[in-house]
Amino acid sequence: MARKRILITGTTGLLGQALVKSLTGKHQVLATGKQPQYPGNEVVDYQALDIANAEACKRITQEFAPDVIVNSAAFTHVDKCESERDACWQVNVKGVENLARAARRNMAQLVQLSTDYIFDGANGPYGEEDSPRPLGYYGKSKLAAENAVRAVGIPYAIVRTNVIFGAGEKVKNNFFLWLFKSLKAGQDINVVTDQWNNPIDALDLAMGIAGMINQKRYGVYHLGGADYLNRFQFAEAVADVFGFSKELIHPITTDALKQPAPRPLRGGLKIDKAKSDFGFNPRSLREVLTFYKEMAIVE
Ligand SMILES: NC(=O)c1ccc[n+]([C@@H]2O[C@H](COP(=O)([O-])OP(=O)(O)OC[C@H]3O[C@@H](n4cnc5c(N)ncnc54)[C@H](OP(=O)(O)O)[C@@H]3O)[C@@H](O)[C@H]2O)c1
Repeated sequence: MARKRILITGTTGLLGQALVKSLTGKHQVLATGKQPQYPGNEVVDYQALDIANAEACKRITQEFAPDVIVNSAAFTHVDKCESERDACWQVNVKGVENLARAARRNMAQLVQLSTDYIFDGANGPYGEEDSPRPLGYYGKSKLAAENAVRAVGIPYAIVRTNVIFGAGEKVKNNFFLWLFKSLKAGQDINVVTDQWNNPIDALDLAMGIAGMINQKRYGVYHLGGADYLNRFQFAEAVADVFGFSKELIHPITTDALKQPAPRPLRGGLKIDKAKSDFGFNPRSLREVLTFYKEMAIVE
């Protein structure tokens, strides 16, 4: 496997940190993020990069001359995307255009992270060839980003994923962390029974992306977890593995939550193509949770 120069964006986030872990060593990695410093104590080759700044994207790619750019940076707050549309578009679409144009200078491969929220959730899980129909602004912006990547004429991979979970340095709450912290504190929680997908551990996803890059795969790939389940079932699995009371978990429907952004209900992604093309093999949810417990990944 040839050693590549890989620039990763958004590395202060959950997936970004996992990507840094899984690509460093085998490749020469430059980690970038909006914040002035990489979080935690790990020694990482890091530079600040706001992907909404076209000049900065151009400069950093000229200097580092990457073979691959992995864009994990995004405006990921689904509800705020409804009320802060311009800010969402500047990062999720303009930022991607900036990276795609910068990648064109040395025909670097752009690996763009996308989402099952580009689908309407009428009949998931979805395959790579299914027709997108986003319900909310976040999904619209991520679909526009996919189209921007295709339009620029560079080698690319679009990696669609869903419900990334795990722990990291100073990461925002993800679904798993929220469940873990609430149940551990003995707090009652309402969890929806009608949102379905196949959640994936951030490191499993990063390993999948590394495999895809190492085996020189291009095009659209769906990378999700091994288990298709609803969020209530996810919460039950967390309670089971960590020994929390299931009585704290109360079923609710998405409708009753009245969230600002509409949610695709039967979402999720079929992962057969990634399995057969580059041996993608995510762990089961219970394997991942048991690993977190045994390794004291969360406490
Ligand atoms: N999380 C999910 O369940 C999920 C599901 C499907 C797809 N995805 C996609 O997967 C990717 C990674 O998600 P994640 O879970 O790792 O999200 P995350 O933890 O929210 O990380 C996103 C990172 O992007 C950074 N960022 C925001 N605006 C930026 C900018 N203008 N320039 C540079 N960095 C910027 C954020 O930094 P600040 O915190 O400093 O703003 C944050 O570090 C995203 O493309 C997301 O759309 C996520």
